[in-house]
Amino acid sequence: MKVVELGSYGATDQLQIAERPEPAATPGRVLVRVAAAPVNPVDLAIRAGALAGLLGDVSFPLELGWEFAGRVLADEGSFTAGQRVAGVLPWFATRSGTYAEVISVDPSWLAPIPDGIDDVTASAVPLNALTARQALDALALSPGATLLVTGASGAVGGYAVQLATAAGLHVMAVASTDDEAYVAALGAKEVFGRPESAAELARAALEVAPDGVDAVFDPAGLGGALIGAVRAGGGFATPVARAVPTAERDIRVVNVRVSPEAGQIGELLQAAAAGTISPRIAGTLPLAEAAIAHARAGATRGKLVLI
Ligand SMILES: NC(=O)c1ccc[n+]([C@@H]2O[C@H](COP(=O)([O-])OP(=O)(O)OC[C@H]3O[C@@H](n4cnc5c(N)ncnc54)[C@H](OP(=O)(O)O)[C@@H]3O)[C@@H](O)[C@H]2O)c1
Repeated sequence: MKVVELGSYGATDQLQIAERPEPAATPGRVLVRVAAAPVNPVDLAIRAGALAGLLGDVSFPLELGWEFAGRVLADEGSFTAGQRVAGVLPWFATRSGTYAEVISVDPSWLAPIPDGIDDVTASAVPLNALTARQALDALALSPGATLLVTGASGAVGGYAVQLATAAGLHVMAVASTDDEAYVAALGAKEVFGRPESAAELARAALEVAPDGVDAVFDPAGLGGALIGAVRAGGGFATPVARAVPTAERDIRVVNVRVSPEAGQIGELLQAAAAGTISPRIAGTLPLAEAAIAHARAGATRGKLVLI
């Protein structure tokens, strides 16, 4: 099978297509022929070596890629050959990736793709919608509560706006330049332009909610002074470990780390099929062009997906 290998930490030219034997069938694991594998910021960070300290000893070549959609290759448990599935790997534990033609997956990391949603669209749900879902669960806000979401033009933030709106929260969100209409259409009641700093955004939010918002979800990783936008006793969640603010005024600060959970992945795929959440796809590229996808990924609105 074809697989994209990362030869060493570095630039995009470290990504090379290679041939390898397919993973062997193992009891209790689902073999999946991958149809679509999105490129995510974490893949770029791993490739560049930005997470080398966290990863410690690694043996190259590495495989990248956290999420996927594809078809089950052989019956296993409740999964049947030919069934369409999508899921997410706990990559930091597996250190094997989805930029490959065939992968071996634990059944708790994937769920069936419902009718009405194609493979490319489904592939862009598990990692980032699950992160948004688990952040909102951690914040445990009641309907009517105010939530400020950063990075709402991006995947995690965009899903958070949609899921929070569907849950009856009053959402304020930060859009990228000239992307305000897109973020408003996701359900945000107030849309802020891209701020110069976390402090500037906190000030803008306090003009709308003088007592502070009930919570902030910060996938843009602004951190720091943005906690000033939260009311005393509120919540602050971020999926960006380097941008966890210091807790103050009894605000609960949570560093969200996505955890594959088949039931939630299934619910989110259903939500995508029903149109409650809409994955943002910038385009597709062949698996062999992973290096080109990495070169373009930082500049797109929406995910590039390897097919
Ligand atoms: N901990 C976990 O389990 C977990 C899981 C999934 C994702 N993540 C992390 O979550 C983050 C978001 O992921 P994603 O897939 O949503 O990324 P994405 O699609 O690239 O979106 C990131 C968004 O943040 C915005 N942003 C970045 N820097 C900003 C700044 N200084 N001010 C305002 N906006 C800024 C970007 O706006 P522009 O386009 O204008 O730059 C973009 O809209 C990444 O760091 C990712 O690694 C963590």
